[in-house]
Amino acid sequence: MLEWILGQKPEAMPESWQQKVSELFLAETGEKYNDTTFRMLGIPEWYGNKLLIDTTIYPQPDSLMGVMWSKPLLENRIRIVALVLDKQVQNNNHGTAILSQVIEAAKSEGKTMIQLEVRKSNSRAQKFYLKHGLSIDKTIQNYYSNEDGFMMIGKL
Ligand SMILES: CC(C)(COP(=O)(O)OP(=O)(O)OC[C@H]1O[C@@H](n2cnc3c(N)ncnc32)[C@H](O)[C@@H]1OP(=O)(O)O)[C@@H](O)C(=O)NCCC(=O)NCCS
Repeated sequence: MLEWILGQKPEAMPESWQQKVSELFLAETGEKYNDTTFRMLGIPEWYGNKLLIDTTIYPQPDSLMGVMWSKPLLENRIRIVALVLDKQVQNNNHGTAILSQVIEAAKSEGKTMIQLEVRKSNSRAQKFYLKHGLSIDKTIQNYYSNEDGFMMIGKL
């Protein structure tokens, strides 16, 4: 059974879990994360920090099936830093479920904007976010080591 649970701050996660997160990010986004990256992300322990886990084998690190990391930005914004699901569980509405939950929680806290960055080539993720009411705001040159990014924003 899969369930989104509250996550710890990335830098406070056990090393075996950090390792698992890094593997997931590398496999699904090509991004490399390490100790320093985890510390620098600045993701709090809050409603915008959730892990998708397979409850039948939790707390094994292999129970990790997805990550939603976001953080507050300025007074009224929320920034999605990472939303990544394991290939096996993609396209099953888990992304929709957590994004909707985070948006609802942010709205009830008075947030009015959501923003994120996505690879220019990741049209699948762009389509996903467009469906959730975000739109492409601008191109950010060389946002990724080998590629431009799009900033996507949405009104909550
Ligand atoms: C992008 C992602 C978070 C979406 O979550 P998800 O649970 O797979 O998506 P959902 O099942 O909730 O939503 C499905 C919608 O997403 C898009 N989508 C998801 N998988 C897709 C696929 N294999 N092909 C095309 N579109 C797809 C479509 O818009 C789809 O809409 P539809 O049902 O009308 O076809 C997830 O697929 C993922 O982790 N992808 C790899 C990592 C990534 O690119 N993250 C975003 C970086 S910013």
